[in-house]
Amino acid sequence: MDVRRIGVVGLGAMGAGIAQVAIEAGFDVVGREVSDELGTAATERIGHFLTRKVEKGRLAQDARDAALGRLRTTTDVSELVDCDLVVEAIVEELQAKRALFVELERFCRRDTVLATNTSALSVTEIAAATASPERVVGMHFFNPAPLMPLVEVVRGELSSDDAVATALDVVDRLGKVAVPCHDTPGFVVNRVLIPLLNDCVRVLDEARVSPEALDAAMTNGAGWPMGPCTLLDLVGIDVHVHASEALYEKLRETRMAPPPRLVAMRNAGLLGRKSGRGFHGY
Ligand code: CAA
Repeated sequence: MDVRRIGVVGLGAMGAGIAQVAIEAGFDVVGREVSDELGTAATERIGHFLTRKVEKGRLAQDARDAALGRLRTTTDVSELVDCDLVVEAIVEELQAKRALFVELERFCRRDTVLATNTSALSVTEIAAATASPERVVGMHFFNPAPLMPLVEVVRGELSSDDAVATALDVVDRLGKVAVPCHDTPGFVVNRVLIPLLNDCVRVLDEARVSPEALDAAMTNGAGWPMGPCTLLDLVGIDVHVHASEALYEKLRETRMAPPPRLVAMRNAGLLGRKSGRGFHGY
């Protein structure tokens, strides 16, 4: 399908980033949030990052304005009716996502491709809530979406070749790198990255090093672009713990289980960048 209009449901850090990438690539975007205030906040966040690109000479002012002009926000799911592709980026809870996909199926055209940005839930289980699982795929962006090139295009058990092809085509037009894969716990990157980050947190206590020292070790010794504690703060401690629990539940591998230190941080509200404090202060 020749996708022209993309819906993004949930304009948090990931959804806003996905919407930004899409308007920059020339797509019309309808972003859905639960309140007008959240829709406005997301538009302002996107406007801020686009302005920074203008200030740094990476984007022309009129291109910035044209991109923002392609974004419309709404609180009403029925306004996604004209979208050729809808990307869901709401809370990582299976029941909430399944309920949303039932709603999307009701309001969207029959040929609209419905994608989930889930990072650790099963695309197949989300699709199974609908009567048309063949049009459901995973499109898993990485944080921060405007900067990270990869999108995992995840084939659910019943995804059609057409739906997968549409998702791959959009990823290409977004200027991103697609890695197609099947619906397995954590897909490709998180299957590797989640236990690795859990190991990093265990090393903090075992080797008795500070978060700053561990970050310095991995950036200077392993060439990581940012250290593991900085990365966990960026991803969100709550998001990482939730994804770890989801993978542990499915795979029963001990390295998948979130280290108690991370669970305690989550329970204390030390969520990283978004709460102002995690391993580091912001
Ligand atoms: N949205 C849009 N723009 C953003 C942004 C965001 N969320 N965050 C930052 N930017 C922009 C800012 O304008 C910033 O510039 P200013 O500070 O001047 O305003 C600019 O991007 C930063 O650009 P740089 O060229 O300076 O980028 P960098 O060289 O510092 O690299 C990075 C930044 C790409 C994030 C790099 O540090 C990196 O690759 N880090 C690793 C990130 C990573 O591993 N992500 C995966 C997380 S795991 C995941 O997402 C999976 C999951 O399911 C949980």
